[in-house]
Amino acid sequence: MNLARIRDALLPGNRRNYPIYENSDIEMLRKAAAFNSQLMDMLREQVKPGISTDYLDKLAADYITGHGHIAACLGYKGYPKSICTSVNDVVCHGIPGKAILQQGDIVNVDVTSIVDGWYGDQSETFFVGEVSSEAKALTQVTFDSLYVGIRAARPYCSVYDIARAITRHAESRGYSVVRSYQGHGIGREFHQEPGVPHYPHESTRKSIIVPGCCFTIEPMINIGAPETYIEQDGWTVRTKDHSLSAQFEHQILMTTDGPEILTLTQNGPQEGHCF
Ligand code: MF3
Ligand code: CO
Ligand code: CO
Repeated sequence: MNLARIRDALLPGNRRNYPIYENSDIEMLRKAAAFNSQLMDMLREQVKPGISTDYLDKLAADYITGHGHIAACLGYKGYPKSICTSVNDVVCHGIPGKAILQQGDIVNVDVTSIVDGWYGDQSETFFVGEVSSEAKALTQVTFDSLYVGIRAARPYCSVYDIARAITRHAESRGYSVVRSYQGHGIGREFHQEPGVPHYPHESTRKSIIVPGCCFTIEPMINIGAPETYIEQDGWTVRTKDHSLSAQFEHQILMTTDGPEILTLTQNGPQEGHCF
């Protein structure tokens, strides 16, 4: 029995219904997430006015399969493309298509790959050329909310602690936190326990993150109201009031020393980045 399991067993009433990863599992997770972050580094350079979201999808698909890996989204519950591209008022799960990215748009690119059976999952919001000060401010608050959540994540914290920190940060600045979609445990499956809502839901007070837990934090933050709806295509999620929405996602491994960000990129925005 390792320390995590002992401590876990000592906390009556707490939930822990996800796998605890150790040693060789952690190496596999690191490898999958590192590959995924290199893919993100490649895509970041390609986002500019005049390209289609389909073009980004093709680049990602070729990169993943070219390295002998699998695009997790392709065919996932019938999803038709390899990545998600969510433009402006699209909150998440935007399907790449012929639409051309325009100067002033913001686009979240969410990529998930499977490397030797292990998942890597992350997303970033990009500016298409110069964007409005409103779009910049939203993106900054969303990026900072992700890091506020990561820093709130400590060994044996609850999911509630993470969400409370994120929501405090975003709401105190006048933004809203999307409730209908959440972060998730991840490993040999795309979505597993623990569920990670980004707003403080009572039920998550007893959902404890112990060392060896691997999960995502992926807040979606809106300028307007938090409500969303799904388009006719069955996937595209938009803000009900059509206000702008942004998102950032990292995959985190909880260790005895604190959170390890598995999907950190070399060339992307680092903690504290100013947009
Ligand atoms: N990558 C998303 C997440 O962070 C899930 C996308 S599922 C898809 O959990 F089917 F829409 F691609
Ligand atoms: Co995710
Ligand atoms: Co994702």
